[in-house]
Amino acid sequence: MLKQYLYISTALDDLNQDEINKILLTSRRNNEKYDLSGILLYRPPHFVQLLEGPEGKVDFTAARIGKDKRHREIEVLHQGKTAIRIFPDWKMGFIQGNVMPSDLKSHLYSILNKTGTHPSNDEILEVLAVVAEVDLSHAQQEAQS
Ligand SMILES: Cc1cc2nc3c(=O)[nH]c(=O)nc-3n(C[C@H](O)[C@H](O)[C@H](O)COP(=O)(O)O)c2cc1C
Repeated sequence: MLKQYLYISTALDDLNQDEINKILLTSRRNNEKYDLSGILLYRPPHFVQLLEGPEGKVDFTAARIGKDKRHREIEVLHQGKTAIRIFPDWKMGFIQGNVMPSDLKSHLYSILNKTGTHPSNDEILEVLAVVAEVDLSHAQQEAQS
């Protein structure tokens, strides 16, 4: 079984494009090495990230990300086991969007809590699509083909 780890955090106020590029470069290099996949969404001031892969590697990487000074107030939205990755071919996809409205966070929680149980990959994908403001099911299909 694989692990999925989904969180929302608040980026540093003055995080510039250079820093974002550095985060992506490091992420893609390390994630390749550790067999991790996922997506990073940046809607100022928030990051929403899904990491998926072998449990130990996800935990190790999540702990590193948790200590990173480029963001704070990390809130885990979901963590759990899965047999199937949502983004098998993305070492770390990235989508940057508009400023995130403050009520979006509660909307994300309501999607995740709809069934009252473990969210399905479709529900996680729905959360990511709401944050990204784009339909990601296409990206997922491409990644799987
Ligand atoms: C929002 C955010 C997302 C990140 N995502 C990842 C990631 O997916 N994988 C990763 O290895 N590092 C990620 N990092 C970077 C880690 O916090 C850390 O800097 C990095 O793993 C250190 O790697 P290095 O020792 O190879 O330089 C992220 C950092 C931030 C701020």
